[in-house]
Amino acid sequence: MGVARLAVLVSGTGTNLAALLAAIDEDEGFGAEVVVVLSDRPQVQALERAHHAGIDSIVVDWSEFATRHEFTEAICDALEPYRIDLVVLAGFMRILAPVAIDRYPNRIVNTHPALLPAFPGGRALEDALEHRVKVTGVTVHFVDEQVDHGPIIAQAAVPVVDGDTVATLRERIQEVEHRLYPATIKQVASSLPTNVERSVVSE
Ligand code: GRF
Repeated sequence: MGVARLAVLVSGTGTNLAALLAAIDEDEGFGAEVVVVLSDRPQVQALERAHHAGIDSIVVDWSEFATRHEFTEAICDALEPYRIDLVVLAGFMRILAPVAIDRYPNRIVNTHPALLPAFPGGRALEDALEHRVKVTGVTVHFVDEQVDHGPIIAQAAVPVVDGDTVATLRERIQEVEHRLYPATIKQVASSLPTNVERSVVSE
């Protein structure tokens, strides 16, 4: 089993990217490496993190594309030379068109700050607080054609406490997410045939 090649797709602060890079650094047996970071917008903190870590970064600016399909195709084309085994969405705020699922079937993972199928979408924390749920959490799942949907790989519960705001709840959720996501990526990566092995098989 070779080392799985990861692409991490970001849009913002990149705390999940940082947690993944730290987990890989600390664990010789992690079995995966981040070979490229791709953002849908320029000048975000996640790109700076990639730069500091010496990892290639690419911007595919969504505002330059007329359709989601063209935007997604440009992402897939940009990733092609990196021979990616697993695409990791980490705070990536765009929805990929089905062409990405076709190119990377069961090879795109996402983390969402709620216990899916509850509270999909970009307001998961606000929705949890508005519904006064007592428990919310983190879900890591394979990505399919729908938003925040697809086979669930791992979940962890996070309590909502009296007086929680979006900020306090986010902090508690991210603490859990920053452990769960790297651990789940490690597990998924270990069950993937890598590109190296695939190219040997096809020769
Ligand atoms: C994470 O909480 C993730 O669940 C959600 O967006 C947030 C991204 O944070 N999809 P970061 O960019 O990794 O800091």
